Amino acid sequence: MSQNITLIATAAMGLESVVASEVKQLGYEANVENGKVIFNAPVSAIPRCNLWLRSADRVKLHVGRFKTETFDDLFEATKALPWENFITEEGKFPVSGKSVKSTLHSVPDCQAIVKKAIAEKLKLKYGFAGNLPETGGLYKVEVAIHKDDATLTIDTSGSGLHKRGYRIGQGDAPLKETLAAALIMLTNWKPDYPLIDPFCGSGTIPIEAALIGQNIAPGFNRDFTSEDWKWIKNRYWDEAFEEVEDKANYSQKLNITGYDIDHRMIEISKENATEAGLGDLISWKQMQANDLVLREQNGYLIGNPPYGQRIGDKEAAGEIYSELGKIMKKHPTWSIYILAAFDAFEQKFGQKATKKRKLFNGFIQTNYYQYFGRKQ
Ligand SMILES: C[S@@+](CC[C@H](N)C(=O)[O-])C[C@H]1O[C@@H](n2cnc3c(N)ncnc32)[C@H](O)[C@@H]1O
Repeated sequence: MSQNITLIATAAMGLESVVASEVKQLGYEANVENGKVIFNAPVSAIPRCNLWLRSADRVKLHVGRFKTETFDDLFEATKALPWENFITEEGKFPVSGKSVKSTLHSVPDCQAIVKKAIAEKLKLKYGFAGNLPETGGLYKVEVAIHKDDATLTIDTSGSGLHKRGYRIGQGDAPLKETLAAALIMLTNWKPDYPLIDPFCGSGTIPIEAALIGQNIAPGFNRDFTSEDWKWIKNRYWDEAFEEVEDKANYSQKLNITGYDIDHRMIEISKENATEAGLGDLISWKQMQANDLVLREQNGYLIGNPPYGQRIGDKEAAGEIYSELGKIMKKHPTWSIYILAAFDAFEQKFGQKATKKRKLFNGFIQTNYYQYFGRKQ
């Protein structure tokens, strides 16, 4: 296919602008809506976006959008879309759905109607009288209806883009890799500055920082469902993988350290970093945050400490923030970025944040507290 397509990079709430700037950096014009970034691009953007987007949840192919209030409308408008451009004769096309504040609120019915409409269209185009074989590549269709506005997409990613392929172990509350990458991209950290995470858990922030620091594509170590799609020329995937190799800067030196009070977490972090191919690049050390000693200037502390949400833990969390605040007060050139769900965080830390941003860590509403250092 030579004409442009429309893609949707889905984003966690609050991260749309981060995803949009990544899409722009790849060279595409981006329009932001709630939870998604929409853009027109050549077909080669499917491999490139899947391989490179660090903060997006998935990349979906936009097939069509229309108003719908009746099942007949939904059927006819779905059938009118050019499914044969994307789903091959033997393609498998399961349909999932969601409906919010819409007249058509029965999701199973919407899914069944969309499935039937696509099947009719494909049978007509490919000349099948009976059932389609559905033995080939996977094309996961989604019908998403919001205030009677239906969007039909096909997922190009497969498993979510947070699944980079390096996480072999994790703790109780790991950050999603996409959120960790966003937390780093929301700072002005550059690879030649020191970066520490005093609460590294399974190592997500240091590992994502090392990938960013050496410009390694986050998707280099995994597969994508659209790799099997015949209408995406192999050449596009080959070129995208070549670009990944060309742009990686393996000689970039890094100064990244992850600490955790729990030595088991440090072992898990090491294993994950090795799996990501970053074994020697990140330093790991078992240590509690109030023993932190900083010998360098102009560093970045990016961390996701315990939130103290379990009964009885609140006081301990407050104590950790307060001790950390005292230590960091002695290091005014350091920038500090803390993701926490704790109302009195600034009070405990002992300083008002330069900037705050509301973000969701899974279902937990958090604040990203940002303290800008005075660089020397
Ligand atoms: C929310 S988890 C961090 C998860 C991590 N971002 C990840 O992706 O796996 C908080 C971590 O802080 C560690 N921790 C708790 N108290 C600590 C302290 N006083 N000093 C250092 N680490 C601590 C816990 O062991 C836990 O691994």
